Amino acid sequence: MMRALLAMVLGLFVCSAIAAEEPQVAIDITMDNKLESMKKASVGAVLYPHKLHAVWYECSECHPKVFTEKIGANDINMNKIISEEFCGSSGCHNSANAFPLYLCENCHEMPKDVVKR
Ligand code: HEC
Ligand code: HEC
Repeated sequence: MMRALLAMVLGLFVCSAIAAEEPQVAIDITMDNKLESMKKASVGAVLYPHKLHAVWYECSECHPKVFTEKIGANDINMNKIISEEFCGSSGCHNSANAFPLYLCENCHEMPKDVVKR
């Protein structure tokens, strides 16, 4: 009994040690700083698949040059994205590497009451 308990406790230690080696990255990040202007354009918040992007690219390709690594710390708007900043940086959503910017619904939640365009 004592042995089983000890093995369990040791097991927990080993698991948490392995987990600690992985960089901690948020899975999905809701970006809604600009919700007011998004509503006017009939789009919702951006649900950003962070973990997936971190699988495709090195952390250093985005942080800190393209995005400050703090939720809500980046002052992003569509003009900047079209001007090749943030998500529109060269090789990203302004290029053939990723889906184009006119696919609003690929990044923005589309409110149910918005008629499909
Ligand atoms: C393709 C670009 C991209 C890549 C690659 C990327 N990130 Fe991020 N990261 C972002 C964006 C965008 C945000 C959200 C910033 C905001 O909310 O303004 C973010 C937010 C964060 C945050 C703050 C949220 C949190 O989880 O606490 C951390 C920390 C972070 N990233 C770490 C990492 C690490 C570590 C890696 C590599 C394993 C990585 N990022 C890879 C774009 C990226
Ligand atoms: C590649 C992802 C992506 C695509 C595609 C995209 N957006 Fe955005 N959009 C963002 C991000 C990221 C923000 C900033 C979110 C924040 O920080 O609040 C944003 C912000 C906005 C804003 C508020 C700021 C501003 O520029 O006024 C509006 C409005 C907006 N988007 C409309 C649209 C419309 C309409 C489309 C389609 C024609 C579109 N977006 C396509 C990622 C995208």
